[in-house]
Amino acid sequence: MVEKVFLCRNSELKESAMRQVAVAGIDASLVVYKVKGKVYATDALCTHGKVALTEGDLEGTTIYCPLHGGGFDVCTGKAVSPPCTVPLKTYSTVVEGDDIFGLLED
Ligand code: FES
Repeated sequence: MVEKVFLCRNSELKESAMRQVAVAGIDASLVVYKVKGKVYATDALCTHGKVALTEGDLEGTTIYCPLHGGGFDVCTGKAVSPPCTVPLKTYSTVVEGDDIFGLLED
């Protein structure tokens, strides 16, 4: 089953920026990114050391972890630079008007 949950307002997310959001109904936060006008969402914590990725740097479509500098592609979740090897979970997003929603699967 897929659940559509509100993440944030599109107008509040600047280009090449990210935002951590708490999601009602799940015991976790997600990060929403805007890159070249497209919106992506991933889990909020690095898979290497459970550090908040919003403290890191977003360069193009790569988010670099603030602790050890590992990187993930926010479009695919693929670990793209060491020491990260485990992919980051990604979520499909939908933009409706000014609202960004994430599609969470059971
Ligand atoms: Fe993120 Fe180590 S905790 S790269």
